[in-house]
Amino acid sequence: MDELQLPVGQIISGKLTFKSKNEFLAALKLGVFYLRHNLGSLLQEGEDFAGNFYKPKENLYTGYAELEYEDSILGYEDRPEQVEQIQLERNLWNKYFPESINDVLNYMYNLSDIVALNVLRELNISSENIEIVLGREGGKQSLEYCIFNHFRGSKKDIGFTTHTDSGFITLIHSNKSGLEGEFSSKWKDINIHKGCFTAIFGDSFEILTKNLQTPVKALLHRVKSTTKNSSENLSERFSFGTYIGPRFDMNMYCCNKNKEPIFHQKFIEFSKVKAKKMGYEFHSKVA
Ligand SMILES: [Fe+2]
Repeated sequence: MDELQLPVGQIISGKLTFKSKNEFLAALKLGVFYLRHNLGSLLQEGEDFAGNFYKPKENLYTGYAELEYEDSILGYEDRPEQVEQIQLERNLWNKYFPESINDVLNYMYNLSDIVALNVLRELNISSENIEIVLGREGGKQSLEYCIFNHFRGSKKDIGFTTHTDSGFITLIHSNKSGLEGEFSSKWKDINIHKGCFTAIFGDSFEILTKNLQTPVKALLHRVKSTTKNSSENLSERFSFGTYIGPRFDMNMYCCNKNKEPIFHQKFIEFSKVKAKKMGYEFHSKVA
C-alpha cells in the first residue's frame, strides 16, 4: 500500500505554521497533517500509560478499565474490534489520571486548540462566530476529551473500524504504524512521523466549511489489524490523544458564503444518525 507524504505543521509563537501556504491548503484538503511537538520525555509517559491502563490494578498506570467514571458521559469501552479504550472529559483528567498524564494531555489539548482556532481564523471566520461554532460563548467549553486506545493483538478483528471523527480535530500519537486514511478513494498508510503527532480533521469542520472556498475534509480512516504480519508478542499497538468537538447539547453549523455560521443540525441528532448508519451503539450515558 502506498504511503502518503503529509504536510508538516508546527506551532510557532502561538501560530500554526507550514512551510508554505500550499502545504496549509493541502492539510485542509487531505483532512490530516503531521504536527511537530516538543513533548520530550513526557511522550514516553503517555506511551507507558496507553500501554498499561487496561491491565488489572497494580500501580499508577494500571487498573483503568475497571473504574466506573460515574461523572463522565464517556469512560471505558470494550469495543467489538481489537480496540479497548478510555475516553474522558478534560475537566476529569486530574481527578482520575496521574499528574504526568494530565500534563501530557493538557499539552496535546493546547496544541489542538491552537490548530482549531488558527484554521478558523485563516478561513476568515470572525472571532465572535468562532466562539459560537466552538460553543464557547459566555465562557462555556467545547466537548474536549482524551482517548487512550489499546489494540489487542490477541483478537483477529480489524484494529479500528472505518470512520470519520465527529468533532473538529483529533490529535493522536501511536507507538506503531497501522493507521490508514482514504485519499481519492484509495487507502494509504499514515505512518508515524518522528517528533510529530497526527492531526485529523472531523465532520464538524467539514460541515462548517463545505461552502467556503477552502473546505476542510473529514478524513475517513481506520486501523489495520495489529496481528497481520507481526509476531504475537510484538503486536501490541496503542495510541493516545485529544479530541475537540461540539458538546452534545450544541448546534452544528455550516457557514454561508459570507462566512456566517448557519444552523445545520443538533450535534446529538447528528451523532445518533451517524451511529446508526455506521452500525455502532451510541454512548448509553448521553442518550
Ligand atoms: Fe478516529
